Amino acid sequence: MTTILKGCIVSAPALGRLETSEHGYLIAENGHITGIYPVLPEQYAGAPVEDYGNDLIVQSFADLHLHAPQYPMLGTGMDLPLLDWLNTYTFPQEARYEDTEFAKEAYSIFTEDMKKSPNTRACIFGTLHVPATEILMEQLDKTGIKAMVGKVNMDRNGSPQLQEESAQASADATVQWIKDTLDKFENVKPILTPRFTPSCSDALMEKLSEIQKKYHLPMQSHLSENFGEIAWVKELCPNTHFYGEAYSQFDLFGGDCPTIMAHCVHSSDEEIALMKKQGVYIAHCPQSNTNLASGISPARRYLDEGLHIGLGSDIAGGTSVSILRAMADAIQVSKLYWRLVDSSMKPLTVEEAFYMGTEGGGSFFGKVGSFKEGYEFDAVVLNDSTIPTPLKLSPRDRLERLIYLSDDRNITAKYVAGRKIL
Ligand code: GUN
Ligand code: FE
Repeated sequence: MTTILKGCIVSAPALGRLETSEHGYLIAENGHITGIYPVLPEQYAGAPVEDYGNDLIVQSFADLHLHAPQYPMLGTGMDLPLLDWLNTYTFPQEARYEDTEFAKEAYSIFTEDMKKSPNTRACIFGTLHVPATEILMEQLDKTGIKAMVGKVNMDRNGSPQLQEESAQASADATVQWIKDTLDKFENVKPILTPRFTPSCSDALMEKLSEIQKKYHLPMQSHLSENFGEIAWVKELCPNTHFYGEAYSQFDLFGGDCPTIMAHCVHSSDEEIALMKKQGVYIAHCPQSNTNLASGISPARRYLDEGLHIGLGSDIAGGTSVSILRAMADAIQVSKLYWRLVDSSMKPLTVEEAFYMGTEGGGSFFGKVGSFKEGYEFDAVVLNDSTIPTPLKLSPRDRLERLIYLSDDRNITAKYVAGRKIL
């Protein structure tokens, strides 16, 4: 099957580079990109063309880190730093998902908004509850978005309402959930999700490592987000030299199984070196890091040193599901880092933020997030005529404006792996 889209095509073929083709053609065959052409190649003459006029057609966005059960908290409870925020607001909120009726209602609001967002891919935390997590997976699958969803593991330092009984109980529930969901959905797959080191005993980490080896699942967790958290991990794991070792000592830190670590705001040199060696993906979540006063992640350093880095909304530490907004936030906090922390770390450019939010994170899913030949055909069509201007803007300036204004009402269409879902 051939798909041909016509419009103002904007892509980032490499970090820091932007290519634009006004009135260009984006062609895909059987769900994979063939290329971008200024004029329609002869072999496609007569084929149907989806003409989006002057709309921007851009490579699509991946949210590498968010918590679906926290969606009802959106924009509230922003007055506490991480550990107090978890205990005061987040754990009581997540405990509600024991109730599957509540889960159905809350997750239907979340999945509807995800569908309307510019994102085509996402890595998502559920809660520790297997039934609620399966409801989330089922609802997401219907949207057509491609997602990895995790049943959360936590067997210590939760609350009486939100903690698993033992390492064994957590591992057993995880195996049951993997068996239930591994092949059940077309678009949604399970991802191993130990919440973070303070929530998971050594015994649980050992079992998760065995489960990962058996089922070859990717993994997502949190790393070096907040100073209090890092000090606590040092107390909990006195034999480790840095936080990342609390995962790597159980072989849960990249390598054979693709791994995302959210935040990495305060990672040490050793931790960064190990992430690079193990190919760990960093989910940079600037809005959450600001809301929870965690700090500023040195994204410039990660990019310059060649680590894998994508963007995350970290709902509900962050308040916007749009990765367009995460791009603007990433640029803004990088400017503060440069001004206030380290004047040798140049602010991120629009081109770099666009790459991070698209192929940077999309590559966790394979050949995703680019319009290069052979990539999966994910694309978003953005109509900026809803934001009137008397000026004639270049395609690059139009993209910058859409990033900074990040208004989801401008989405005309969304394609995921060759399928139009919006
Ligand atoms: N660390 C452990 N759990 C969480 C969470 O839910 N959100 C954030 N931002 N950090 C965490
Ligand atoms: Fe998080």
